[in-house]
This record gives sequence, C-alpha cells and structure tokens, in this order.
Amino acid sequence: MNNKALHRISYGLYIVSSKKGDKFNGQIANTVFQATSEPPRVAVSINKGNLTHEFIQDSGVFAVSILSKDAPMTLIGHFGFKSGRDLDKFRSQNYKIGVTGVPIILDFCAGYIEAEVIKSLDIGTHTIFVGNVVDADVMSEVGPMTYAYYHQIKGGKTPKAAATYVAEEKSSAPALKPPVKALAKYECQVCGYIYDPEIGDPDGGIEPGTAFEDLPDDWSCPVCGASKEDFKKVE
Ligand SMILES: Cc1cc2nc3c(=O)[nH]c(=O)nc-3n(C[C@H](O)[C@H](O)[C@H](O)COP(=O)(O)O)c2cc1C
Repeated sequence: MNNKALHRISYGLYIVSSKKGDKFNGQIANTVFQATSEPPRVAVSINKGNLTHEFIQDSGVFAVSILSKDAPMTLIGHFGFKSGRDLDKFRSQNYKIGVTGVPIILDFCAGYIEAEVIKSLDIGTHTIFVGNVVDADVMSEVGPMTYAYYHQIKGGKTPKAAATYVAEEKSSAPALKPPVKALAKYECQVCGYIYDPEIGDPDGGIEPGTAFEDLPDDWSCPVCGASKEDFKKVE
C-alpha cells in the first residue's frame, strides 16, 4: 500500500472551538467537511485526547472558524501545537460568541459555521462529530487557507494528534519551488517545524535566502514559539 496517496486528499484549515460551562477552547483541524446540504450538516474528526473533544462531548456544540490564506503560523501554532489544558487559548484572541455560545475567531477568519451535534462516531483514536448547521457567515474576502498551502508555502507540519498524520510525512508532496541555494534547513525539536532558508519566515519579517545562522538571537519558532537553541540542523 502506498500511503502517499493519502497526501493527495485536499483539505482546508480550521479552528474548531467549543465550550464547557463558562470555559472556551479550540484547536486546529483540517478534517472538516460539509456532509449534507438538506439540511446542512458538517462533520469534523477530533482526537479523543484533545481538550476540544472533551468540550464538544460535554456541550454538544461546536464552531468552525475557516482560516484565511493570510493566517500567520503563530495563530496555527497557538491552536494546533498547544493544548487548552496548559493555557487559556482564547485569552489572547479577538473573538465573538456565536448563537451556540461558542467562541468564533474574528482575525484571519474567512467565514464561520456553528453546529449542534446530532451524531458522534467512535473511530478509534478520533471521534467524528456530525452537526446540524445552526448559523454561518462570510467574514472576509481573503480566500481560505488550504492544507496544501499550509504545507508547501508556509512550511507547516502536522502533529501526531491530527487525523491525517502520516509517520513518513517528511517525504510527502514535493515543494512548489525547487531549491536554488544549498543553505541548511533546521528543524524545531518541539513541534517539527522546518526553517527553510529558501522561504525564510515571512510572518516574522525574515526574508527568503536568510541562513539559519543569520537569524536574530531572539528569533523564535513561528509555530510553537520555541527558541533558536531548540532547532537542529536537518542532515
Ligand atoms: C495542520 C494541523 C492539522 C490538524 N488537524 C487535526 C484534526 O483534523 N483533528 C484533530 O483532532 N487534531 C488536529 N490537529 C491537532 C490539534 O490541533 C492539536 O492536537 C491541539 O493541540 C489540540 O488542542 P486541545 O487539547 O486544546 O484541544 C491538527 C494540527 C495541525 C497543526
């Protein structure tokens, strides 16, 4: 079996949020899709170990904030590589409360969908939650972020908790641009983000063509915030 075929499936990138009592939480998910149109229903696959899973199970509601293409890696790292068990993820965010009482991200949000869970399917490591859409709106004219754009242009990685994690991800889809310089890549030992000198760190103001060694000492991983010392050269 060639697992690389799984990399050919297309996705978007979303912040799936929910609540438990007066607490809010949310996480990055790529596994969101519209399941039916009459009535409109959406589905999402959530890892059982995630705090967001606990919150959706408890409240029976969730919101999907559709990330726009210009969403910074720091936002994806904040919701996708950190757990609400360790920090209040919404404290630092600009959000509004939807009709379900769940927070909806307002920055870098192309649109949102709110849903009430009608069915939960246990599929092992993850649960697929299917919900009736109870509200939705378009928030920006900037196009939605795709999973391919996140990987190929933004240089993003996928953690093990993600539904679509594949162990040999490093050898996945080819980069869009062939390498032009032999500057070394460096990998973050915390989240797996790879600093590619060809791309630089556009969100952090680092120009393409900047060697890792030339990054400022206070530069930090755009995904998880780890320091420069936490990076190792990719051999
Ligand atoms: C690009 C990307 C895609 C992800 N997709 C999913 C997904 O579809 N389902 C899932 O359960 N986790 C996914 N994750 C992982 C969660 O976002 C991550 O485990 C998060 O820290 C869980 O946070 P929580 O414990 O606060 O709920 C993804 C992460 C990234 C960076």
